Amino acid sequence: MIEIENVRKSFGNLEVVKGVDLTVNKGEVVSIIGGSGSGKSTLLMCINGLEAIQGGQIRVDGTPVHASGTDLNKLRQKIGIVFQQWNAFPHLTVMENVMLAPRKVLGKSRQEAEEIAVRQLTHVGLGDKLKVFPSKLSGGQQQRMAIARALAMSPDYMLFDEATSALDPQLVGEVLDTMRLLAEEGMTMVLVTHEIRFARDVSDRVAFFRDGKIHEIGSPDQVIGQPQRAETADFLKSVL
Ligand SMILES: Nc1ncnc2c1ncn2[C@@H]1O[C@H](COP(=O)(O)OP(=O)(O)OP(=O)(O)O)[C@@H](O)[C@H]1O
Ligand SMILES: [Mg+2]
Repeated sequence: MIEIENVRKSFGNLEVVKGVDLTVNKGEVVSIIGGSGSGKSTLLMCINGLEAIQGGQIRVDGTPVHASGTDLNKLRQKIGIVFQQWNAFPHLTVMENVMLAPRKVLGKSRQEAEEIAVRQLTHVGLGDKLKVFPSKLSGGQQQRMAIARALAMSPDYMLFDEATSALDPQLVGEVLDTMRLLAEEGMTMVLVTHEIRFARDVSDRVAFFRDGKIHEIGSPDQVIGQPQRAETADFLKSVL
């Protein structure tokens, strides 16, 4: 599980995460919603150690992410992350792109890596695009390739940061469907999203971020359906 305890994060003098507590249990899907600049992406980056923290602690399966003795490369193998956009290697096919990390990081043989790539690309609905180059994929297909690439490392956790917000509206659905499939399969997921209806649908819990803090957290029906705090309601009104 992911345990976030009183985490504080600053950029210079600007504190952007101001004491966040959040535990994500195995198999749980937690969505983080909130306005621009509220610290959502920053918190996500802290979870896999892409950002240092100035206070508190984050543990993943008991391992303190920011402790000096922690092998971050090893830790990151179990935490897949998907951003708004992933720049695939243009000279490699879709399959070769997905094979890269299993080969280089996990030391898999070419054949093993191929099997993994085929399995994961099929999983996200790209079984017919194995041999094409990334530039031939639609935006939605590229994002699904990015998900397959993360899944190729057999992660225990998946973090998504606005995985659909760079997409044309008609391509959003196919990526959300892939994310929904992972959630249904029991993947432990933390997702930052502006897709409020999707968050309500797939999440076990929703956290509303405001000014570097979790302003409100609870079940989707509570936080999105019947927000207790005025700021949550205002935010939802502004995006729905
Ligand atoms: N590398 C950085 N250096 C300095 N300031 C940063 C850096 N990254 C983020 N910030 C600042 O930290 C604050 C939180 O940013 P963050 O990206 O976490 O917000 P967010 O909630 O993800 O917003 P959005 O919905 O727009 O993606 C913002 O004020 C931002 O300007
Ligand atoms: Mg962000």
